Amino acid sequence: MKAVILTGGKGTRLLPLTHNMPKSIVPVLNIPFLEHVFRYLATHQIRDIILAQGYLSRPIQSYFGDGEQFGVRLKYITEATPLGTAGAVKNVEGYLDEPFLVLNGDIFTDLDITAMIDSHRRNRAKVTIALTPVADPTSYGLVLTNPDNGITSFLEKPTREQAQTNMINAGIYVLEPDVLGQIPAQTSFSFERELFPLLLSRGEPCYAFPAADYWIDMGTVEKYLQLHRDLLNGQSSQFTPPVPGEIVVGERSFIHPTARVEGRVIIGGGCTIGPNVVLKEAVVGSGTEILAGAVVEESVIWWDSVVGRRVELQGSIVADRCILHDGSVVRGCVLGGGVSIAGDCRLGVGSKIWPDKTAGIEEG
Ligand code: GTP
Repeated sequence: MKAVILTGGKGTRLLPLTHNMPKSIVPVLNIPFLEHVFRYLATHQIRDIILAQGYLSRPIQSYFGDGEQFGVRLKYITEATPLGTAGAVKNVEGYLDEPFLVLNGDIFTDLDITAMIDSHRRNRAKVTIALTPVADPTSYGLVLTNPDNGITSFLEKPTREQAQTNMINAGIYVLEPDVLGQIPAQTSFSFERELFPLLLSRGEPCYAFPAADYWIDMGTVEKYLQLHRDLLNGQSSQFTPPVPGEIVVGERSFIHPTARVEGRVIIGGGCTIGPNVVLKEAVVGSGTEILAGAVVEESVIWWDSVVGRRVELQGSIVADRCILHDGSVVRGCVLGGGVSIAGDCRLGVGSKIWPDKTAGIEEG
């Protein structure tokens, strides 16, 4: 079966990380996000993948090429203007003549796609939508079903009172190719708000595939950090976390004997971790230097950054090539690529600094 992965969105909720980096290749555990998705699909024997692209398509193409190195075969189709989730799939119709899978490009899940495809076939469905439970469904699209998993209605962003179920659309679909005939060509069109309600109103067999397996949409800063926390805590079957206190470390990295590692920590290649540094529940990308006495906790650092002496970094994301000068305090912040934080500067909790900016006392 072929898969179409939607990677054309702007990823505004993940700004400033997505200012110059498409959401689908932000690193997760030091690996571009889509690489995890390709591995996952390959375990379900899905290796023919079409990437429906738009915003910032080039970096994805230049990293993955034809996909061979990653065990998949990739085709890239780029939209001139955003066509929405269903419009993007209509745009690749020429490559789809059998039932196919569609995935949002920001979902990390252990959901059993093989079982989902089997259930699609058994039900003779036109569309099967994976469902996942969430604690608070009010910001998602709810899918209501009968006891046989036949879909009865859709409810976008319900109030607490309206939410009769906590099963939401998980952003993974199996579709018959003839449903593409219902989507207007070269027009922005949505699966969630337009195509699926339309198919239901026409009496087409629409089924759900509820699953309780690990699932997260990593499209916000909070969820991106949550995904790292979950993976480090062994919530997904796709990643065996390090034993607490044991460091997973890449080649050519140097860790000073007085540095302390607490909880689960992953360090990429070519890093230097200085004396008396404390690392706790952190992911440190390749080529990063952490200088004496710095404390890095529950944070993700991409690559080639410098964390200065006595810096306190907590609950934050630091993109590539950042410099946190000595004594700066950064808690609950997101720093875009190439950001510089002045020495002894205390950034406000929740600060988001755009790429290549300098933040510090003199700049207010
Ligand atoms: P936000 O701006 O933060 O909402 O993110 P987003 O632009 O990625 O939108 P959203 O998370 O709702 O999109 C779900 C998935 O569909 C993501 O993988 C997007 O990349 C993808 N997507 C959204 N709109 C389009 C589009 O117009 N074309 C294509 N090809 N993909 C899209």
